[in-house]
Amino acid sequence: MTQVSMTVNGKSVSGDVEGRTLLSSFLREHLSLTGTHVGCDTAQCGACVVHVNGEAVKSCNMLALEADGSDVGTIEGQANEDGSLNVIQQAFQDHHGLQCGFCTPGMVMSTAALLKDNPRPTEAEIRKYLEGNLCRCTGYHNIVKSIMAASGQDASSIAAE
Ligand code: FES
Ligand code: FES
Repeated sequence: MTQVSMTVNGKSVSGDVEGRTLLSSFLREHLSLTGTHVGCDTAQCGACVVHVNGEAVKSCNMLALEADGSDVGTIEGQANEDGSLNVIQQAFQDHHGLQCGFCTPGMVMSTAALLKDNPRPTEAEIRKYLEGNLCRCTGYHNIVKSIMAASGQDASSIAAE
């Protein structure tokens, strides 16, 4: 076992992990941050996306050891300080960007990373960026609408709900 230390949602954490322990497992099983979902464990679905040093990363595709010393952000750290939904989360709620919700943490984390680099993405840019995030429920239209709205853009041109 090897000790890893990192900052998660602004708090310093550490734990003993095996060399094979994935970052997703460290977050969920060692830190009980189960908002990071695991849908495939093979870097296909994007449900496990977190931020590592500000970049969107599939946490099932990174060893906890590789994240040693990093600044990690998860869905649990996305709400506003008063506990209210942040602008992305609120937009997903307002525009029905989720159904079962399984993909939603990864969608929100990917969206946050997208809007950091591209605050007003086009519909095509949103769809391209989300290629690594799968949703089995929504048909994606309302997710794209939510992201248009979260970036302050008119979402009315996106296909009907
Ligand atoms: Fe990581 Fe699916 S659980 S991409
Ligand atoms: Fe169910 Fe996306 S809302 S998988």
